Amino acid sequence: MKIVIASDHGGLRLKKELVEQLTKAGHQVDDIGTHTDASCDYPDFAHAVAKKVLAKESERGILVCGTGVGMSIAANRHAGVRAVVCSDTYTAKLSRSHNDANVLCIGERVVGSGLGWEIVSAWIAEPASTDERHTKRRTKIEVA
Ligand code: RB5
Repeated sequence: MKIVIASDHGGLRLKKELVEQLTKAGHQVDDIGTHTDASCDYPDFAHAVAKKVLAKESERGILVCGTGVGMSIAANRHAGVRAVVCSDTYTAKLSRSHNDANVLCIGERVVGSGLGWEIVSAWIAEPASTDERHTKRRTKIEVA
């Protein structure tokens, strides 16, 4: 799967590990930064990933910051982006199945690299449910 990934300085270490693991697992990873420890602004990366997902340059996006929260708030400002913050695999799976989340946000200060990879793996593998109750609800997400 083609996946675009980014972080701020607070998520750099976990992002690097996820890039390695995703690549090893056979995914095509577009790492658009940050690439240094220098302090930077998470919305810049959230907006860049959101735009690439909406332009269908990548099927899914992953964002890492300290908590995942700022990234998700910024990414969700884009109509068509359904970004979710996950710290557990159950939420990760249901965010795909029920909500068809297309951007996953993770907090490096919240989850370690082991759990981080399990969350990412679960989220990537889970298909969006085609059950009518879920598809109907998803059509009601966007505000006109
Ligand atoms: C950076 O210090 C931190 O605020 C950022 O990584 C993120 O947690 C914001 O939501």
